[in-house]
Amino acid sequence: MSKLIICGRGGCGKSTLITLMAQKIEEQGKKVLIVDSDESNLGLSAMVGIKSPEKTLMDYLGGRPLLDGKLMEVFLNGENEKLELLSETSLDKLPSDFVSWNGNKGFMQIGKIEHNNEGCACPMGVIGNDFLNNLVLNKDEWVLIDTEAGVEHFGRGTVEQADAIIMVVDPSNDAVLLSEKIAKLSDDADKPFGVVLNRVDDETKTILEDAISKKNISIMGAIPYSKTMARENLVGNRLDNNMIEGNVGDILKNLENHNLDI
Ligand SMILES: Nc1ncnc2c1ncn2[C@@H]1O[C@H](COP(=O)(O)OP(=O)(O)OP(=O)(O)O)[C@@H](O)[C@H]1O
Ligand SMILES: [Mg+2]
Repeated sequence: MSKLIICGRGGCGKSTLITLMAQKIEEQGKKVLIVDSDESNLGLSAMVGIKSPEKTLMDYLGGRPLLDGKLMEVFLNGENEKLELLSETSLDKLPSDFVSWNGNKGFMQIGKIEHNNEGCACPMGVIGNDFLNNLVLNKDEWVLIDTEAGVEHFGRGTVEQADAIIMVVDPSNDAVLLSEKIAKLSDDADKPFGVVLNRVDDETKTILEDAISKKNISIMGAIPYSKTMARENLVGNRLDNNMIEGNVGDILKNLENHNLDI
């Protein structure tokens, strides 16, 4: 498994799961890059415990005015014109301007909405896709892509750059309904798909397992509700696998064993 998109409805635990997975991957002696492609939320860096890099990828590439100009050029010159912002690269070649490393764990942000009326987040989608498409990984390297809530990344084609899609399902009817939609979108995109249950207790876990299995969707694992983790996140502290009772290592094993719906 290499490039993974983590998605789900707002507040379901996408950033939390990414943080816990990244820690486990690093513990296994592997390299992992966390790509924050959420244009709004700011908390992932604190969860992971890595300071945000000096620049977002968007700033590194010249900022919105320059990118908007380039995108307009491509649009006006028709489909034969390609947006070539980045060339083929690998994890060890990424500039420290937009990637911060802590050991084998890297953190970067595609771009954030910073100003009132600055325009939509489409340029960030375009550069994010270009970056991921050009990023070549070795066998034991992972990229975990944190997305904004909902299904916008399907509309933008970000999923095309991923090897698999994981949805976080929290105990809510909305999440169960959305799982069916995302399973279908993943199937349309021809990408393996599975879900991770989050913030569950014994009762809600059983209800969710039942509801998700009836939809023939594979469950990669479950993370129980953790009062400690909720508190540590609230005060802006780094999250750690020792704050939960579940084993995120089992989720990784399931992913690596390709127990996903294809
Ligand atoms: N297993 C858990 N136990 C306790 N609290 C949790 C758990 N998972 C997530 N939370 C809490 O739920 C809230 C939302 O989590 P998180 O930010 O990871 O969700 P998200 O899906 O990334 O949200 P957004 O859609 O806003 O990006 C946070 O306050 C987080 O601490
Ligand atoms: Mg988030």
